[in-house]
Amino acid sequence: MAIIWDEKYSVRISIIDEQHKQFVLLMDKLSKTINVVNPKETLSQIIKELERYAVYHFNTEEKYFIEFNYLGKKEHIEAHRNFVEKLEKIKEKHHNDVVMLSIELVTFMSDWLVNHVQDMDKKYIECFHENGLY
Ligand SMILES: [Fe+2]
Ligand SMILES: [Fe+2]
Repeated sequence: MAIIWDEKYSVRISIIDEQHKQFVLLMDKLSKTINVVNPKETLSQIIKELERYAVYHFNTEEKYFIEFNYLGKKEHIEAHRNFVEKLEKIKEKHHNDVVMLSIELVTFMSDWLVNHVQDMDKKYIECFHENGLY
């Protein structure tokens, strides 16, 4: 089953929604790795992509936090750091087991979509809109 973007994930800020959509695409790719010819190589490529994209996306949000003097920035930036650390830990823990690694990563990302995108990210909508970012 494909993992696809849903309107319920929207934060009604186009640049952020576009970036979150890339995360969902990466999640979908992750969930399909075990069926490819060289899962280990494919998985490590997707993880690299995910790591790069996470940094890029978090930098985008954090740039606006500073620019708009967003009150929840400290807590939010901390959550971004935790994401990166957790990703590293999962990678280390399951480096010898492609199947477990891909399952754990998809679970981790699904949890992030629910608890970060749909909860924490939504808290900055008002502040971003007030500053003219839609
Ligand atoms: Fe985000
Ligand atoms: Fe965020």
